[in-house]
Amino acid sequence: MANDLTNKNFDVLVVGSGAAGLTLALHLAQKYQVAVLSKGKLNEGSTWYAQGGIAAVLDNEDSIDSHVQDTLAAGAGLCHKDAVEFTVRHSKEAIDWLIKLGVNFTKTNDSEDYHLTREGGHSHRRIIHSADATGKAVHTTLLEQARQSKNLHLFENHISVDLIKQSQANSARVRCTGAYVYNRLSDCVEVFSAKAVVLATGGASKVYLYTTNPDGASGDGIAMAWRAGCRVGNMEFNQFHPTCLYHPKAKSFLVTEALRGEGAKLRLPDGQTFMHKFHHLEELAPRDVVARAIDHEMKRLGSDCVYLDISHKSEEFLASHFPTVKQRCLEFGIDITKEAIPVVPAAHYTCGGIAVGLNGETDLKNLYAIGETSFTGLHGANRMASNSLLECLVYAQSAAQAIDESIAHIPAPKPAPAWDESRVTNSDEDVVISHNWEELRRFMWDYVGIVRTRKRLERATHRIKLLQKEIHEYYSNYKISNDLVELRNLAMVAELIIRSAMARKESRGLHYSIDYPDTADIAQDTVLVPMNHAAQNIIVDSP
Ligand code: FAD
Ligand code: SIN
Repeated sequence: MANDLTNKNFDVLVVGSGAAGLTLALHLAQKYQVAVLSKGKLNEGSTWYAQGGIAAVLDNEDSIDSHVQDTLAAGAGLCHKDAVEFTVRHSKEAIDWLIKLGVNFTKTNDSEDYHLTREGGHSHRRIIHSADATGKAVHTTLLEQARQSKNLHLFENHISVDLIKQSQANSARVRCTGAYVYNRLSDCVEVFSAKAVVLATGGASKVYLYTTNPDGASGDGIAMAWRAGCRVGNMEFNQFHPTCLYHPKAKSFLVTEALRGEGAKLRLPDGQTFMHKFHHLEELAPRDVVARAIDHEMKRLGSDCVYLDISHKSEEFLASHFPTVKQRCLEFGIDITKEAIPVVPAAHYTCGGIAVGLNGETDLKNLYAIGETSFTGLHGANRMASNSLLECLVYAQSAAQAIDESIAHIPAPKPAPAWDESRVTNSDEDVVISHNWEELRRFMWDYVGIVRTRKRLERATHRIKLLQKEIHEYYSNYKISNDLVELRNLAMVAELIIRSAMARKESRGLHYSIDYPDTADIAQDTVLVPMNHAAQNIIVDSP
């Protein structure tokens, strides 16, 4: 199998070292040479920060049908039933695999059974978790395994900038054969070649000013795939998590929904509860409903935040189930055993993404997308809590299998041209990047946030056009840097979100428009097709 580390030739190139990327890499590294890239440290993706857990059908009283129905209900008519059934059917297998690898999930006090918690939209307790630091437990185990694998090569501080495409001898189609990758340590752009390329780059919530996501969530995979000719879908559905800690120094700390699953109440500044006015499931209503209710109450009262109160639970219970939240809040002087936590909604999850099939295959041959960067149809108009880590695991496994079945027939890529830096210089104007970055995230928050109007979206359209022009000029003239790559991608993704939101003339799930408050009878995806759509790249064979 290909293993040419100097020239960076591999069988499989995986862009992203979160739950999706590492799971796929571990499945394939038994037989193939696999490179895994992360743009910063290996654990800097969203996976590390996941708190609540992973949804799966594990209890005898629960059923696949019930998990499917809950997911469909949360998705507000827009889930793809085949994707939902496929994911849920494979949920137990995915969890068993993690347990076999050694993930230390929390057990109930009195038995060897795993403790299952509850979150919004779930009609059963079905969230397996590792206290309130599930992502850390999962990622640590995956990374330990990855480090032990001799065929798996980890590249930290390597940012994929754009995909490489080649036309294939004796084939009608253009295929993906690698990526141009900016090595932050050497300050050079390198060519990584592979027979199959997998985008596992996570979400794009950094496009918003306030987010629960780590800094790297800039939608790089979505932007790269779009530029390479792949369709993207349902980008207007960005999920806002209802409860992010509100404190000037907390940056982006999530207060897990599992608190509400265990009985926490949302309260106004005067202590009154309010969720009963918005949904019969109250605090456990789907996330879009809770986030909008909080937004509504904050705007009505002119208050900076609302409060989440779990102080009725015992100190022992809170210490064992929510040690991370308890500790982090204490650092800001909030004792959750005695007082309510100030919270606000923040951008959390990208439901749309690169259009893929059940094996993570994209429109471009030999290019796959898995995890949060993909649009599988599982989440519809609103992701149900804890379904995303499950999606990462299930699609990583199916994509790995598809690659395994096809790779023997894929010829080695031809050498790609080196990255051309002959016409760019070092920037002495980095302020342009920081200014545009700030401006973009602010207008996305103000104009394309939880509640939208046509006028605000028009303003956003105008702003993004100007920004893109400026960023394009800058990109054409100056040497690449991490911030520039991310800004270029954020602007691309922002444009896709705005275009999708403009196209949806109704309110559904996470997309709420004051101008179109009703839900249309027929649910339709918003699928955007690039000018260079990969299907149009088909070269007709000469006779
Ligand atoms: P990530 O884990 O985000 O990893 C992305 C990887 O791609 C990183 O390694 C990054 O460095 C790399 N990358 C990105 N761009 C590039 C590039 N250009 N070049 C090279 N590498 C690149 N979901 C649940 O199901 N349950 C939960 O309890 C839960 N809690 C959450 C709590 C928080 C605070 C957050 C932020 C999310 C939570 N989610 C939860 C969502 C879930 O964590 C994510 O959807 C999931 O982890 C995404 O995994 P991923 O592998 O797709 O991407
Ligand atoms: C949380 O723990 O509230 C996050 C769960 C999720 O995003 O799925």
